[in-house]
This record gives sequence, C-alpha cells and structure tokens, in this order.
Amino acid sequence: MRLDRFISSQLPDVSRRDVKKLCLKGRLTVNGKRAARSDMHIDEHSDSVALDGTEIIYREHIYIMLNKPQGVVCATRDGLSKTVLELIPPELRRRGLFPAGRLDKDTEGFVLITDDGDFAHRMLSPSHHVEKTYFVRLRDPWESSYTNTFSEGFDDDEGGRWRAARFEGSQNDPCECLLTLTEGRYHQVKRMFAQLGNKVEFLKRISIGEMELDPTLPSGGCLEILHKDVDKLLASKTL
Ligand code: URA
Repeated sequence: MRLDRFISSQLPDVSRRDVKKLCLKGRLTVNGKRAARSDMHIDEHSDSVALDGTEIIYREHIYIMLNKPQGVVCATRDGLSKTVLELIPPELRRRGLFPAGRLDKDTEGFVLITDDGDFAHRMLSPSHHVEKTYFVRLRDPWESSYTNTFSEGFDDDEGGRWRAARFEGSQNDPCECLLTLTEGRYHQVKRMFAQLGNKVEFLKRISIGEMELDPTLPSGGCLEILHKDVDKLLASKTL
C-alpha cells in the first residue's frame, strides 16, 4: 500500500496532500527511518509507520461500541437532531463509519458503529438470527403468560408473524423485564408489547450476540471493540 493511502485511511483528518508535507517536514518514519516520499510502498501488516514518533497501528476496519443516549438518531446525517456519528471521539473517527442497525431516538444503549459493510450485513441479516437483548420498563406489570407467548411467536400487526423471542420478567420489579429478539423490525419491541395491551416506557439495548454493553460505559461513551472480540457480535445461542 502507498504510504499516503495508508496514512489517510487511518487518520481521516490527514489528506494525501498533507502526507506529502509531513514527509517534507520529516515527521513520518517507516521502520525508524525518515520517509522521504509519500508515494513509497509499505507493508501495512509488517512495517512500523510513525507520525512524530507515535506508531500508527493498522486496522483495516474499526468496530465501536456506543452507549447511545436518548435524543440522538442512528443516522450518518440529520438536519435536525444530533447523530450517533457526532459522538465518536476524534481518535476513533474515520471515513465510511455508519451505525450498523437502528435504535429509535428515544431508545438507549448498544449501537455498533463500523466501517465494515460486509460485517454489518451479516450482523443485521435476519437469516443470521443474531440475538439482541433489550431491557424494558413497562407501563403495566408483566404477566406470566408473556413467557410462552413470546417463546412461541405470535401474529404481528401487519398480517405476518413475530419470530420466537425470549422473555424474562424481573423478580424485583413487576414492570421490568428483558426481551431477546433475533430480528430487528421497525419499533419491534414497542409494537410487540402494544399488541399484548401493554406499553414500553423505557427501552435500552444491552447486548448484541454474545457481547454485552460495557456497564462502565457512560451514556454517550464509546469504546473500540478489539478485533479478537468482534466475532462475539455474531455469536448467538439459539432461542
Ligand atoms: N424495538 C423498538 O421498539 N425500538 C428500538 O429502538 C429497538 C427495538
């Protein structure tokens, strides 16, 4: 890969033209030696590239766990509301980031932000049955019949069927529960409970696949998911 392409793919605020200037100023090194030309070729997997002495570790793609607050939209651009991309800190920003899947504006919790389209497709595709778990606070106490209703699946509100889901009522609070789904249809949790005559008052996604939202991550906070852990987002127990 050319050095200028390497740098601009890893540091979105640095253009290829900037890389030329950095070379002229002697700020870039490859394996400890000053990089003279921005068009030189490097091996992104084995060469050590540094800017001002700080090594730039190559990542083909990036995967970010965001704890989305209420009031923020899962979009790359929005004329009115703040988007999830505006919450990404500068050191994790790069071109092509997007939210893999949507939470409603008033839903909180785990959103994956990535620049890996193939991965996002696998995670979101209904055929992959990736489990997503939601913490739900209901208007009215949950009923013991919910467990079977959800585990069997039931007719939806548009002539089809909701797939089987796992319902776990809280033993501490009669209005709190967890619901695990393997599909992600528009307003799905709210619509499912509405059909049971109840109402979702608060909704937070707490896990995707086998990866839980880090409980220490503050609302609006982000952390990079290490490559060795990324496949946990695709791994699911079957319902
Ligand atoms: N179900 C909903 O109703 N809303 C969400 O944001 C996610 C799942």
